[in-house]
Amino acid sequence: MKVTIVGAGAVGASCAEYVAIKDFASEVVILDIKEGYAEGKAMDLMQTASLNGFDTKIVGSTNDYSKTAGSDVCVITSGIPRKPGMTREELIGINAGIVKTVSANLIEHSPNTIIIVVSNPMDTMTYLVHKTTGLPKNRIIGMGGALDSARFKYRLAEALECPISDVNGMVIGGHSDKGMVPLTAKAVRNGVPVTEFLSEERLEQVAADTKVGGATLTGLLGTSAWYAPGAAVSELVKAIALDSKKMFPCSALLEGEYDLNDLCIGVPVLLGKNGIEKIVEISLSDAEKAKMQESAEGVKKTNGLLEF
Ligand code: LAC
Repeated sequence: MKVTIVGAGAVGASCAEYVAIKDFASEVVILDIKEGYAEGKAMDLMQTASLNGFDTKIVGSTNDYSKTAGSDVCVITSGIPRKPGMTREELIGINAGIVKTVSANLIEHSPNTIIIVVSNPMDTMTYLVHKTTGLPKNRIIGMGGALDSARFKYRLAEALECPISDVNGMVIGGHSDKGMVPLTAKAVRNGVPVTEFLSEERLEQVAADTKVGGATLTGLLGTSAWYAPGAAVSELVKAIALDSKKMFPCSALLEGEYDLNDLCIGVPVLLGKNGIEKIVEISLSDAEKAKMQESAEGVKKTNGLLEF
């Protein structure tokens, strides 16, 4: 499998590193507009290959899309990241133009590619790729829910004082501080609902901490996080590469599922060689449904700021 990652910043480089370390791809191309930057990151990463034990070839390119030709999966991380105090929605003006140009360039050289969108505001950027490229909907995936769910599991394990591998749970809805819907009532510790171990108040705190997961890190780091976003992307790419049909919450174009239409928002999907193999409709409680509807309204409001 050939994977292209656009943007050699912290998130893009972290994606490339995790994809390479997992050693399922033959080639990873990193592309950036900053002269020599992607080449430098690629060379540095290649020099970890003998140490970390991977055979994936990593190539850097300064904006030469011909190097990306024939990619099976392309990941778009380009654009500006959040600064402390900013919402993801505030990035729309600059990032929409970048995502539109980048996706057109990628498809020109890899017409059969699957695109994973990471740039923020992610759900709206995913929708923009749908509106402007005409790719079939199974081949456009927004990365948010896999990251938010990893942050949810981190917070659940913290509250339960248990190893993270003991917990499971999912965050659906929009990838925004207000829009995330952590499914607390469905989260489990080793198959047992976490509601057996945690009070309603503690679970509400877990959900609140999860929703501001990205903002908390932006406050600490002065810019957007990269390790967990990179790792989350690498898991999506791996599920596609291995045709595993693994379930992740991803931003997908909805056409009636969850009573929602004409937007991209986080819902459980199965990922395989065709990208989104299936949108999984799980039953939601009335409270969860209401949160999902409210989240969708927020995403649609941001979509309304797009100019095509
Ligand atoms: C975050 C960015 C990737 O949540 O949206 O860290």
